[in-house]
Amino acid sequence: MQRKLDKIMAICEKRGFFFPSAEIYGGKAGFWTYGHLGTLLKRKFENEWNLDENFYEIEDCNLLPEQVFVSSGHLEHFRDPLTECKKCHFRFRADELIEDELNINVEGIKAEAMDKIIRDNNLKCPKCGSRELTKVRWFNMMFELKVGAVGEETMYLRPETAQSAYLSFKREFYALREKLPIGLAIIGKAYRNEISPRQVFFRLREFTQAELQIFFDPKKINEVENWNKVRRYKLRMFLAKNRKSKKVVEMSCEDVVKKLNLPKMYVYYLAMVQRFYLNILKIPKEKFRLKELTEKERAFYNKIHYDVELFLETLEGFKEVAGIHYRTDYDLRNHQEGSKESMEVINEKKEKFIPHVLELSFGVDRNVFSIVDIFFKEEKERNLFVFPRKLAPIEVAIFPLVRKDKLPQKARKVFSLLKDSGFIVFYDEKGSIGRMYRRMDEIGCPAMITIDYDSLKNDDCTLRDRDTMKQIRVKIDELPQTILKFLNGEKLTKLGKIFK
Ligand code: GAP
Repeated sequence: MQRKLDKIMAICEKRGFFFPSAEIYGGKAGFWTYGHLGTLLKRKFENEWNLDENFYEIEDCNLLPEQVFVSSGHLEHFRDPLTECKKCHFRFRADELIEDELNINVEGIKAEAMDKIIRDNNLKCPKCGSRELTKVRWFNMMFELKVGAVGEETMYLRPETAQSAYLSFKREFYALREKLPIGLAIIGKAYRNEISPRQVFFRLREFTQAELQIFFDPKKINEVENWNKVRRYKLRMFLAKNRKSKKVVEMSCEDVVKKLNLPKMYVYYLAMVQRFYLNILKIPKEKFRLKELTEKERAFYNKIHYDVELFLETLEGFKEVAGIHYRTDYDLRNHQEGSKESMEVINEKKEKFIPHVLELSFGVDRNVFSIVDIFFKEEKERNLFVFPRKLAPIEVAIFPLVRKDKLPQKARKVFSLLKDSGFIVFYDEKGSIGRMYRRMDEIGCPAMITIDYDSLKNDDCTLRDRDTMKQIRVKIDELPQTILKFLNGEKLTKLGKIFK
């Protein structure tokens, strides 16, 4: 819905969530800057992204040697089909042209076949309308860099953070006392030279991924310690056979294992990911689904692949924000071959094997944009973000009722008290109290505190809930605990008597 997208973008750009990178020079498609609020929101997402207590975070370089991507298969397979208009020289993705114009999914088909579809259907350049298009050819999406004084070495900006976990596997396996399964998590930048960046954060050229690689013994793929905790949990499955009807079926994890013949460990992590979206990010259930990908649609390294899709009004449909991939031993085996370093480990039965990998891969920017879309609310008198309280970029705002009679001094003291207690706090005294409330509503701040004349007498303040606009009075020495409870989801009525 264009109108909603325009409204959200106007607020996000004006208030400091995000805006085009290098905007004063006109910007470049596919590159965005996070402003002060966007940075806080993104960090909140990254901090909440804590899918398994048994994982360890590592960090690696963004630039990696060419040989890494020879072994990983990215140099050969990480490509998109490109065509160019002979008249206006606009370059675009052939698969997207076909999808947009004919509603046909051409994932996995050859360049010649795409070419034929374009000619048979007389498709034209989306920019100038000419039907003179070049033959479809493959285009590798990695950014290549020449490194060294005379550029003697070729390196690539990583197109996924995952490779760094495979490269570090052996070191971390020994450092973590040779136990499987282990999870290596990376939150970091990935780079793809996308042919047509679009849909705000959905096709970026530089973006952040949060990826967890779980290394395990393939013989134990059906052994899950906490299986009983998810056995009856219902997953929202959007199966390939239901694409036309768009039907989502709710199936217990137990049924998914039995009826769809998926390994228990894989299904366990489907449940963990769904719980993260529904319980932590508070995404409404009907806006969430797990989409099955067919063999043709899966990436070259995946044996099983479901995407997390969220319904976004601004982009008019369900959109992919994460993927759960069973990569088998594809990556470690290829790195073993390429580097001549053994990736084998030994289990309790003294059997040697290369661990398999289950990957939980999240696009942080797509998730941040989804949060902004899903929690935007238009009311009669105000527009606001009703972010889950813990995700809000600014947690508490503090205002003096008026800028006189020592109210600002008292408000600043409360500001320091809450800041020292570890909250993300904002102080404002510019404008009427009503306007200050509205400004904080607009950026989704859940708790607002006002220091008024009674505060001077009683050493207390008012606490206003963004969503209901109701207020209670709280003693200042009890404020940090009260705010903590409130941010953890306690109702205002449980924390005090509503007076307004
Ligand atoms: N390591 C596996 C991997 O990279 P992917 O499906 O190519 O798999 C994973 O990417 C996630 O990264 C996607 O689900 C999406 O959220 C995000 N992502 C991928 N390409 C992106 C792009 N060009 N712009 C923004 N996010 C992207």
